[in-house]
Amino acid sequence: MRGKTVLLIIGGGIAAYKSLELIRRLKERGAAVRVILTHAATQFVTPLSASSLAGEKVYQDLFSLTDESEMGHIQLSRSADLVVVAPATADLMAKLAGGHANDLASTTLLATDKRVLMAPAMNVRMWNHPANQRNLRTLKAEGVLFVGPNEGDMACGEFGPGRMAEPDEITDAVASYFNTDEHALDGLKALVTAGPTQEPLDPVRFIANRSSGKQGYAIAGALARAGASTVLVSGPVEIEPPSGVRLLKVTTAREMLAACEASLPADVAVCTAAVADWRPEIAANNKIKKEKDAAAPTLRLVENPDILATLARHPQRPHLLIGFAAETESVVEHAAAKRLRKGCDWIVANDVSPHTGIMGGDRNTVHLITAKGTESWPELAKAEVGERLAARIAQSLKGQAA
Ligand code: C5P
Repeated sequence: MRGKTVLLIIGGGIAAYKSLELIRRLKERGAAVRVILTHAATQFVTPLSASSLAGEKVYQDLFSLTDESEMGHIQLSRSADLVVVAPATADLMAKLAGGHANDLASTTLLATDKRVLMAPAMNVRMWNHPANQRNLRTLKAEGVLFVGPNEGDMACGEFGPGRMAEPDEITDAVASYFNTDEHALDGLKALVTAGPTQEPLDPVRFIANRSSGKQGYAIAGALARAGASTVLVSGPVEIEPPSGVRLLKVTTAREMLAACEASLPADVAVCTAAVADWRPEIAANNKIKKEKDAAAPTLRLVENPDILATLARHPQRPHLLIGFAAETESVVEHAAAKRLRKGCDWIVANDVSPHTGIMGGDRNTVHLITAKGTESWPELAKAEVGERLAARIAQSLKGQAA
């Protein structure tokens, strides 16, 4: 981040106090931070605190004669390398989605020629409100980047999605942005599978697994940010899709395979999904009843298609085909054998023993296994694994580093 300038717009929410910490984190990593406070933000944090931490004056007023003569709002909006909105309130999201420009923050967001990264924070009902979700979709489709919100206890006493991402997470997202060459994968098409599949027993019951989808979503987001036209085929997960991807939601392995085949041709495919190996032979049309004194029913399973192996043999095989291997022992040996067995080019292997906390967690330690050998990467945030992989993909497909 050294040499980069972040324009931080602090919106009016209780999470604004964390944005003071965010200023410190960004500065520690070498960025210059220029701050705009909305009028509502000044109810939660003072201009003096923000300016002391940023080490320069903060901007508040669209119609300030001194501000406008020193640095006009158009210039302010372009003077940064990235615009970060934290907390991004429902109001700020709505203003940008609707194209409003009636104060310094909204005018700056509309006038900027730089990327915008939003860290939303609001009450869970506000977050889930159809109007807010509509604005979220609009902003994502227009290339606004998002970090969070997280799920948890809220200042208002409720629980759910709406807590602002922590300052460290936002700082990591900013670092990710600066680490990505936005044109490294221009003109290329990527396909990513993610999440679990659900295999129905009857209309209300299914077999599934604990995959959170986080790693696959991070990879799809990184590929899209690097310029690839990215299709994300996802089983049922609780997380938000990244900006700039085309999301195809599926439930079963067979649906996932059909969605993948329909998305070919692709230059690169990354299969991170935890596809159920087996499905119930029969999915009953009606709920299976518990009959009095009857023996428990026997589950007969049949094998699901292997999506990675099918893509490997496909007439439209992606040029670069990457699988994942979740192992609990002899990780590299098992993964190397899997690369050959499945017919893919690379395998990203990780140890998912319960003590690692990788399943559902935010960090990952992986080994990249190619025909040339094994690269062991340090422990990284899942977002960073996504970026590194996107960079390696760019290197391989375009002969350049991302
Ligand atoms: O065989 P195993 O499940 O360990 O292989 C893992 C790799 O294969 C992952 O890349 C996963 O996405 C993919 N896979 C698949 N379809 C299946 C099973 C696994 O694409 N039915």
